Amino acid sequence: MEHSILVAGGAGYIGTHTLVSLIQTGYRPVVFDNFSNSGIVAIERVEKITGVAVECIVGDIRDASALDSAFQQCADRGQPVSCVLHLAALKAVGESNSMPLAYYDNNVTGTLVLLEAMRRAGVGTIVFSSSATVYGEPEFLPFVETHRIAPTNPYGWTKAMVEQILRDLCASDPAIKAICLRYFNPIGAHESGLIGEDPRGEPNNLFPYITRTAVGRSACLRIFGDDYDTPDGTGVRDYVHVADLADGHVKAIDYALSSRSGQGFAAFNLGTGRGTSVKELIGAFERESGVPVPHQVTSRRAGDIGEAWADPALANQVLGWAARRSVDQMCRDGWNWQKNNPDGYPEKE
Ligand code: NAD
Ligand code: UFG
Repeated sequence: MEHSILVAGGAGYIGTHTLVSLIQTGYRPVVFDNFSNSGIVAIERVEKITGVAVECIVGDIRDASALDSAFQQCADRGQPVSCVLHLAALKAVGESNSMPLAYYDNNVTGTLVLLEAMRRAGVGTIVFSSSATVYGEPEFLPFVETHRIAPTNPYGWTKAMVEQILRDLCASDPAIKAICLRYFNPIGAHESGLIGEDPRGEPNNLFPYITRTAVGRSACLRIFGDDYDTPDGTGVRDYVHVADLADGHVKAIDYALSSRSGQGFAAFNLGTGRGTSVKELIGAFERESGVPVPHQVTSRRAGDIGEAWADPALANQVLGWAARRSVDQMCRDGWNWQKNNPDGYPEKE
């Protein structure tokens, strides 16, 4: 049977890439998104890539009746939801420091409303977008899933709190399955260049700054510090191709819906296991795109850690997932998206 998957936040950066993987694996995704950080064109682009019409329900996860009717709609036509993929969240670390209540409301209250609606609809399986940010300052590297959880900002706390809620929920009911995917640093885009990351306003992350500088939307990239205890002094992260990450969601859903997943709660790192510095990433991008990226070193960004990378062994052993694509490919595909869509998605096509 083709399983229906309700994809909350499915119109966003990671969501759209995951839709492609879900469809190509034979799942039937139903998007539920309030378009607070996305739009319908991204879904139309997914349809173009896959040749499959994607059902999209415009709604907010804090709206219980909108969720009830979404689950009901699927059940009524004989395609009840088997699993919820929950990517809907606000995600800007800096903004979460200045607007913590908005973050707890959207990300934590929203998840509670979603979980209650799942209970009413009889859906017991959820795959949740968590983040490596739940670990905070590393006690040791690479991060393993048993590392201390100690986020350093409200956004990270929303992820840690939702993980705890899911852990408690699973302990209360053996029929519930919850898988938390702790993403490291997703970058790149689908190889078609039709979908990619399109931050509204100022980007928060390094890679969209690199690509925007390369297309001339920003004059100069700032490197936040070159005095870290790393080989070239700049920050080191575990960049993972968004298409690999998308495949990780499919593996997590396969696992959650299979008889292999005995235990209710599980968390997995999704990273490559390799660190890349800011300077190395800029160098790889310039090589792959042939476009220079003007940059200058400035002071450290408050709250940044020097280095972070994953131990992805658990996801490999249990889910059968491993990242396959190189940093060079991340740069090529990310550039292909940005150069074809210098201003991001249009309002309409
Ligand atoms: P995104 O902003 O592109 O996508 C999130 C989507 O959720 C958007 O389409 C937005 O409109 C929607 N949304 C937000 N609040 C909603 C609500 N209340 N109701 C319905 N829809 C809502 O972000 P992304 O980069 O695709 O991230 C997806 C998930 O992965 C998020 O949960 C994010 O916290 C997590 N994550 C992202 C990164 C990253 O670097 N991109 C890293 C770690 C974890
Ligand atoms: N950096 C710069 N210049 C910039 C932006 C970033 O030098 O303009 C540096 C940072 O100092 C850091 C590296 O590039 O060393 C990566 O920074 P990002 O902001 O791209 O990524 P972070 O690892 O700091 O944080 C990201 C997301 C979080 C998420 C975390 C782990 O923003 O939401 O990865 O997944 F939780």
